[in-house]
Amino acid sequence: MSENGPAIRRFADGEQMCGAAAEALVDWAVEAVKSRGRFTAALSGGSTPKRLYELLAEPPFRERVEWEKVELFWGDERAVPPDHREANFRVAHEALLAKLELPARQIHRMRTEEEDRDTVARDYQNEIARVFGVSPAGAPPCFDLVLLGLGADGHTASLFPHTQALKETSRWVVACFVPQIGAERISLTPRIINRASHVLFLVAGEEKAQALAEVLEGTYDPERLPAQLIQPSAGRLVWFVDDAAAGCLESYGAGRLT
Ligand code: 6PG
Repeated sequence: MSENGPAIRRFADGEQMCGAAAEALVDWAVEAVKSRGRFTAALSGGSTPKRLYELLAEPPFRERVEWEKVELFWGDERAVPPDHREANFRVAHEALLAKLELPARQIHRMRTEEEDRDTVARDYQNEIARVFGVSPAGAPPCFDLVLLGLGADGHTASLFPHTQALKETSRWVVACFVPQIGAERISLTPRIINRASHVLFLVAGEEKAQALAEVLEGTYDPERLPAQLIQPSAGRLVWFVDDAAAGCLESYGAGRLT
């Protein structure tokens, strides 16, 4: 990682980590709406952010966000229908979206139930471009926030080790077969993720400790540790981790900022 490194905040457990993440997300949303009239966020999949989504749907966080000015996207999605138990959309929908009753026009889902996943990826890039008012053939726009998780193998979003998606330098969204899981995924690419104003990783659990230490403190080897590709060009990179996930950290591991 770069010499000055990202901001790391450690918390005693996932609940405290998600509470702090809700605070941070709401602050970023308030600032974005105040200065740009809206807040654009790409949500993460997996199970870690579920509690964050639940907190955002309840007081005190719910009232602090002008949800009618929020545009929600996803960082990645599995090749399943939106109501499938493995769908990243379903997790966010059940924990947050259904409770907010957001209009469909503000929810930008990857339509991975459609067979031709490359077209799904191209359509999603066009959708992002449409919402941001830019050309899909030009430079990617800047999300206010990209929320990410970390797999025990060092993947993030659906950027898995040794896959073609890691080599993508032009497209903002790609479809990719992932041999490790024997399935296709759709994912934002580092090119657009690294344009975000804020990139927040949420990492909890002992099973992530080795990968987290290697990503943050190990040799730069993004083919093996794709999360190392996430280095925002101008925005801020922040890692929120719980003590269990931070168990193998050395230099970053010292102080717990709660
Ligand atoms: C996905 C995710 C993926 C996830 C990590 C961590 O679709 O699975 O986007 O990148 O964030 O695998 O997942 P957990 O939070 O379930 O540990």
